[in-house]
Amino acid sequence: MRAFFPAIVLATTTLAACSHAPGAGDQGLHNHGSTSDIDARTEVVFPEPLRAHTLSNMRDHLKALAEIQIALAEGKFDTASAVAEQRLGMSSLKSHGAHDVARYMPAGMQAAGEAMHRSASRFAVEAQNSGATGDLKPAVQALAQVTATCVACHAGYRLR
Ligand code: HEC
Repeated sequence: MRAFFPAIVLATTTLAACSHAPGAGDQGLHNHGSTSDIDARTEVVFPEPLRAHTLSNMRDHLKALAEIQIALAEGKFDTASAVAEQRLGMSSLKSHGAHDVARYMPAGMQAAGEAMHRSASRFAVEAQNSGATGDLKPAVQALAQVTATCVACHAGYRLR
């Protein structure tokens, strides 16, 4: 995952001072004490109205995650899959205005965004598989990877 996802390297680099080595599934998810007060995120400037549009998209990302978890809990795998693909996955790129916004992003941030879209599309497939096999675990693992991409980008970047 690291080779393909520079932002995770960025996130784990900031954890170097921690007493334990971060492993898979530990991508900046714990509070590492006083170092969390230091804001080492790269500041990125988006012109208005792209900034407001991006933050509005972000709130929808979180809402989509909530809807996906509710759908999974209710065994509605098709719904979980569709929400992921349309709101977070590769199919969401156009509605997000990703093309407009990408040119204001540093390369690592672009990669983090791509990783989110790809991982959400992968989850969409796993959710379908879970519907067929009844085994929830691969879908939950794939969803954890989606959330890790949110965490990694947030650890590396902020908007002015
Ligand atoms: C490519 C980078 C990137 C990815 C991927 C990403 N975000 Fe964000 N997100 C940001 C940035 C940058 C901000 C602004 C943070 C700041 O300025 O402090 C933000 C802000 C937010 C906010 C606050 C919105 C507001 O109104 O202030 C939420 C909620 C959010 N993101 C949710 C998510 C969720 C959920 C995911 C994953 C499904 C996600 N984001 C993935 C970059 C990203």
